[in-house]
Parts: sequence; C-alpha cells; structure tokens
Amino acid sequence: MNTLFYGDNLTIMRKMPAESVDLIYLDPPFNSNRSYNLLYKNTTGLPIPEQIEAFCDTWELDYEKSEMAKDIPLIMHDYGIHHEVVQFWYYLVQALKTTNPRLLAYLVYMTIRLIEMHRLLKPTGSLYLHCDPTASHYLKIVMDSVFGPKHIRNEIIWHYKRYTARSGQFQKLHDVLFWYSKTNTYVFNDIREAYGAKSGIHDSHYKQDENGKWFRWQKRKGAEPYKIYLSEGRRMGDVWEIPFINASSKERLGYPTQKPLALLERIIQASSKENDLVFDPFCGCGTTIEAAIKNHRQWIGCDIAIHSIKLIQTTRIQKYGFTEHVEYRIEGIPQSPEQAQYLFEQDPFQFQYWAVEKTGGFCSHKKTGDKGIDGRLYFETGTALCSMVLSVKGGTIKPADIRDLRGVLEREKGTELAGFICLKEPTKAMKQEADAAGVYVYQGLSYPRIQILTIQDIFNGKTWYCPSMVKTLRKDTGQTFLAL
Ligand SMILES: C[S@@+](CC[C@H](N)C(=O)[O-])C[C@H]1O[C@@H](n2cnc3c(N)ncnc32)[C@H](O)[C@@H]1O
Repeated sequence: MNTLFYGDNLTIMRKMPAESVDLIYLDPPFNSNRSYNLLYKNTTGLPIPEQIEAFCDTWELDYEKSEMAKDIPLIMHDYGIHHEVVQFWYYLVQALKTTNPRLLAYLVYMTIRLIEMHRLLKPTGSLYLHCDPTASHYLKIVMDSVFGPKHIRNEIIWHYKRYTARSGQFQKLHDVLFWYSKTNTYVFNDIREAYGAKSGIHDSHYKQDENGKWFRWQKRKGAEPYKIYLSEGRRMGDVWEIPFINASSKERLGYPTQKPLALLERIIQASSKENDLVFDPFCGCGTTIEAAIKNHRQWIGCDIAIHSIKLIQTTRIQKYGFTEHVEYRIEGIPQSPEQAQYLFEQDPFQFQYWAVEKTGGFCSHKKTGDKGIDGRLYFETGTALCSMVLSVKGGTIKPADIRDLRGVLEREKGTELAGFICLKEPTKAMKQEADAAGVYVYQGLSYPRIQILTIQDIFNGKTWYCPSMVKTLRKDTGQTFLAL
C-alpha cells in the first residue's frame, strides 16, 4: 500500500525487500553546511529564539561517523563492489579524513544509503540523485562505485532563474541530477518538449501539409524519407528549464528546499510506467508523492521530520481525497505507549523528537551538546517570552535526572519551568525531587517548576501546566502549528 514512513530512511530501507522498487528519486541534504528552519512567528510578535528546525545539513566527522568511514571499504566489498574500487575508497577515506573531514562525514552518510537504494531497485529500475555542485563530483564517484560507471544514463542540469546575492563569482543557477539505471534494461519513455511558438515558420526546412500542419522531411541512410511534425515536439535534452519555487509560486508550501512538481512529473513520466512503485527516501514536503499520485503510480515516502509527514498528509494527499488505511498508511508515528517504546528501542533520537513535538514543544535537533535540553515550549508573560525546557528519557530513570533538570533551570535565563518526559513510571523519590523545585507564580497562579509526564499520561491527554502557550503560525499561510 502507498506508505509514508516517519523515521531515518536507513532503518526503514533495511527492512524493505530487495528488488521491490521501480524508481527512486532522492533529494538529500546537499552538504550545504546550514540548517533549514520552518519559518514560524508567534502571536506575541516576539521572536521564538529556537525555531523549529526542518532539518539540519551540517556535518561533523564525530566518533560514530569516523568509525563508519573506516568500514566503508568493507561495506562496499561485502556488497560485491569491485576490489579495485574498494581499494580506491580505502585511500580516499584516508585522504578526506585529514583534508576534508566534513565532506567525508557526508559521503559516509550518503554511501551507506545509496547501497541500500541500489539493493531495493528492481533490475529494470532507475535512480535519480538530486544534488548540487557542492558535492556532486564526489557523489558521482559514489554512484559510479555502487551502480557501475556504465549505468549512468544522464547527468541532468536543472537550470532555473533566481536572484543570488553573492558577488565575485557567477550566479549559481543550476542543480545536478544523476540518472542511473540498475542494469542496461530499463524503462525510458521518450517524452517530448514543445518547440518554441515561432519554430517552423521561420525555419526553411519546414513546410505546411494540406492541413496546414508544419513538418519537415527526415532522411535516413537506406530508408525512405519520412515526415516529422513540429507538433510532435522535440526530444528532451539534458538541460531542463523549470521555474524555481519562490515566494510567489502558487505551489509553494513554505517547506525549505521544496522542488517543483513539474520536475518530479518529468522524472516519473520518463522513467516509470503506470502502477509502478516510486520511492522517495527524503521526501520533504512530498513533491514526489504528489507527482506519483497525479501520474497514477504507487508510492512510498520517508522523512525524518514529523512535520514533513503531517504536511504531506494535510496538503498533498488530502487534495486527492485519499483515505488513510484505505489508499495509504502512515508508519512510525506511535499510536500507543507500546509503539512509543518500540520507537525508542529502534531510534532513541526519533523517540525524543516525537515526544517533544507531541507535547507542543520545539525540538533541539542537536544529538550532542544539548546540555540535557531536548526541546522547549514557549509561553507569554506580559512583554517577555519565557520557555519551559523539556527533557526526554526513554530508558532507565532516576532522581539524579530530576536534579540535573533543576540545574538546567537555574542555569538557563528566561526559563521558569522544566518538563520531564519518560516511558517508565517515576519513582516516589523522583516526584519528591521535582516537588522540591518549588513553584513559579504568574498572575496569582502557581505552576510546579518541574513537572513529569509519562508517555502513558500523554496518551491519556495530560499536558503541561503552564501559562498560555504561544501559538505558532506559519508566516506565509497563517496556518496553525500542525497538531500531531
Ligand atoms: C532537501 S529536503 C527534500 C525536499 C523535497 N524534495 C521536496 O520537494 O519537498 C531533504 C529532506 O530529507 C529529510 N531527511 C534528512 N535526513 C533524513 C534521513 N536520514 N531519513 C529520512 N529523511 C531525512 C529532511 O527532513 C528533509 O525533509
């Protein structure tokens, strides 16, 4: 069934059967070294210091990635990649470790995922990797290693017009798409593009037939000449002129890095057939999903950001009148404490993001160095915006966790409250520790400075006790924050 997965695509792909997908389009983070925020404003007009991060595109060669980098040649070898190529990667990893560790971290992340995607493709399948010149030359080496250099079909340039402010260099007005097929037998529908309005009329090669239609004679060695009509259009080139999604685009959903529907429709029409299965492992706000629905393909999308899944559901899918559990399903968003426990076991960070957002908070997407803060929610006190810090624990819990949270409260300016979310039932000692933190008084009402919610409490509808929470509105559409 058509499916939207919430979670890390690596975990999800590893559970999908081999040779099950006809077409993959991926538009991963580009190694742009920046974070993409959804633009939110609040009802007070005061800035929210830490906006919802749509996704993070900054890379560090931390211990985990460094260990994985060492394993890349081995992973390639195990996947059956040619010995000489594996050797090349061994040296490339060594070189990048010292010269460009961030790029290495990014390539490690991409390589393990591209190997999975190759496994998922049917022998007749194709993959389109969307990237830009920041890392395209390195990604092509990864693709050549995994798919084999003879399986590249095209390097497509998506050319668009937009204003880029940088001076001292040429304007950057294109993205790169690598199209690879898994084998030499693949689907290709020869889609055509229209000639310009005046073509033919000013071209002496063209004549009009008895019905006034423009055509020219095509001659081929050893064959009878035949007519080619202007209306058939011309064969599509590898430079695609498709307008960029800007502030005035009608299809704009306000999701950073949204790609145009026309781009995805072209890919899907060229490289798949009706009812084929299209997979987008980094589906963002779901351009691929809509293009697949529009062109009668089946689809699977995956994203690590929960708001992306909700946005796809409430915009793209609803538009076509699809019903959940009938025409599509959503996987990975816990619907019960047991499922939340399962999410924690599979992916503790994903569990943390989900829990924070489930209670109305904003996630801190930093996996390390968040000093015990996994998210915050905001409330108004007259002219100031105060925050409640949130800490999530899926595993064992102890009174020291609450003491740490008290430390955070004392340390963090503008923070009056703290919330502790846990899977397990808190002990009496933990509750006492929380009570000892006292209360915060605002407009004659007292709010416990440290509050504890279990996941079971959250499913029972319990929420934080705090002054009215700041509503967040999408700047462009005024749409309220998507409830989970
Ligand atoms: C460049 S955007 C894709 C935009 C998309 N093509 C569209 O038109 O909306 C990349 C997306 O990948 C998601 N992402 C990043 N890492 C991921 C991962 N490991 N697993 C799944 N999704 C991930 C991000 O949350 C983000 O939505």
